[in-house]
Amino acid sequence: MPVAVVTGAARGIGRATAQTLHGAGWRVAMTDVDPHVSERAAELGQGACGIVADAASAEDWQRVVAEVNERLGPVGALVLNALATDANPLHAMSEEAWQRQLDVNLTGAFHGLRACLPDLLSDGQGRAVIVSSVHAHFGLLDVPGYAATKAGQTGLVRQVAAQYGPRLRINCVAPGPIRTALWDRISEAERQRSGRQTALGRMGEPEEVAEVIAFLLSDRASYITGATIPVDGGWSITKDSA
Ligand SMILES: NC(=O)c1ccc[n+]([C@@H]2O[C@H](COP(=O)([O-])OP(=O)(O)OC[C@H]3O[C@@H](n4cnc5c(N)ncnc54)[C@H](O)[C@@H]3O)[C@@H](O)[C@H]2O)c1
Repeated sequence: MPVAVVTGAARGIGRATAQTLHGAGWRVAMTDVDPHVSERAAELGQGACGIVADAASAEDWQRVVAEVNERLGPVGALVLNALATDANPLHAMSEEAWQRQLDVNLTGAFHGLRACLPDLLSDGQGRAVIVSSVHAHFGLLDVPGYAATKAGQTGLVRQVAAQYGPRLRINCVAPGPIRTALWDRISEAERQRSGRQTALGRMGEPEEVAEVIAFLLSDRASYITGATIPVDGGWSITKDSA
């Protein structure tokens, strides 16, 4: 079976994606800065490996591809999911925080795609997904760096899809409020309020995003490329207004 690399896979949407892909028969390389990623990969068993790597580092990407090639085979699919975020308005955001968000979310995608591109193009059937966000399209408070990088990811996907099709299909998913550790610092009341702002009246689960990513990487999505698919329970199509 082909090999998928998933970044930020120690927990949350990345971990659920690795689990879903593994269940669908993919061999899966799980990368993360969190060393627990090795245990998470061991839990999946045969055909999975965990690699500690910073998605923002070009050197780490070279090492990841070499290790994946040796342990599992050529990279057939790439899921760029790792994130950096900083909750501050523009006037209060440090330049370091701004830069780290660019480095992980956007330059990390550049490095990851460049490192994996030879493998992805080699059989003429490469696949990739970038995990963007509804923040790519909507103005919300206190996340200027995150939102700018998430919008940048959707532009990057369109460019790469046009450039490397038909040998590579690449898409974004744009999750709405998904119940992961990202929400740990937010009160239960606020989480419920975010859930109520969707058409489905609840927050999503990481597995519900993972299913869409697995679909986009599968042959069933053979005519979808360059797209950004909302996975947001209808958050983006409903707003309160008198
Ligand atoms: N949870 C949501 O509500 C939500 C909504 C929209 C979009 N998203 C997107 O989904 C993706 C996953 O988010 P999540 O909610 O699962 O987050 P999470 O915080 O639960 O998991 C993120 C993982 O990324 C890892 N990581 C952080 N920096 C890294 C780096 N430099 N290199 C490698 N790994 C790194 C973390 O260690 C962690 O394991 C992100 O791209 C995020 O922007 C999430």
